[in-house]
Amino acid sequence: MRHLLSTAQLSRAEAIDLLDVAEQMSHVSTREVKKLPVLRGLTVVNLFFEDSTRTRLSFEAAAKRLSADVITFTAKGSSVSKGESLQDTAQTLSAMGADGIVIRHSGSGAPHRLAHAGWIDAPVVNAGDGTHEHPTQALLDAFTLRRVRAGLPASGPHDGAVGRGLDGMVVGIVGDILHSRVARSNVHLLTTLGAHVVLVAPPTLLPVGVDSWPCDVVYDLDEAIASQGFDALMMLRVQQERMDEAFFPTAREYARRWGLTDARARALPADCAILHPGPMNRGFEIGAEAADSPRTVVLDQVANGVSVRMAVLYRLLTGQSTADRGREGQL
Ligand code: NCD
Repeated sequence: MRHLLSTAQLSRAEAIDLLDVAEQMSHVSTREVKKLPVLRGLTVVNLFFEDSTRTRLSFEAAAKRLSADVITFTAKGSSVSKGESLQDTAQTLSAMGADGIVIRHSGSGAPHRLAHAGWIDAPVVNAGDGTHEHPTQALLDAFTLRRVRAGLPASGPHDGAVGRGLDGMVVGIVGDILHSRVARSNVHLLTTLGAHVVLVAPPTLLPVGVDSWPCDVVYDLDEAIASQGFDALMMLRVQQERMDEAFFPTAREYARRWGLTDARARALPADCAILHPGPMNRGFEIGAEAADSPRTVVLDQVANGVSVRMAVLYRLLTGQSTADRGREGQL
């Protein structure tokens, strides 16, 4: 694996390997000294052309816990606002000696272009591109689901055994599928790992071509909750910043039909985990009871995000040279 651009590129074995490495990394995060020397001397550049809090902080924490030097670049206040192109920005960073580049961009396909245009030769990690993909989010969701499935704490250390894939698990993904890179990346990854994915959304918030995705699509959330036997339900944020027209009548109507209201949260199977990638719009796609319920693993997802990103950076930035092989023993 040279870059991580999409979850569609991952084989089952590669995905499981990343989750297993992330399990090892999760133990580092609970030590008194949360550091491994494996990326010492390497520089990770975080290029954030689009707003982000948790993903940017998570990649920074991940790189630092592996002892890399980290340069974070946010588009605001940079020469991008003076019209500098992706190519010029990338080449500048490359000239500064970036060993790995993490990029978030509003343009679907920007990370792919950065990886393949021949401007740079560092590995590229997609941290969310437009409405396309967000592979590390899907990996952290899969990591969390694997823990839930094994009956282990959803994050943090444990002595139990996680399974390999997610075979037989039924996962609902609810809401704004159309604008969600999280949903796209999850449909690929969770099905690769053996889960059965059911998308629940208003027809206006489903992308063209969704029929060819490897999942079921239904429109009625109450019916889905009653009939699907969900092991986990992932609520998506309604991405109003990407909407330039009306996709549903009113926020109230959306919440009434597709939100995880308190009544729906109570109707879920007792052991159904509730996920949300954050940031949550309380009272819109998720009600207070669901947001604060003990079955909700939103903060576990955040914690697991660091472990998963450590695993991705470790796998992409090491293993190529003899010096790298020396690093393997330091895990
Ligand atoms: C997601 C994103 O940016 O795609 N959030 C995240 O990475 N934490 C989902 C969202 O913004 O709704």
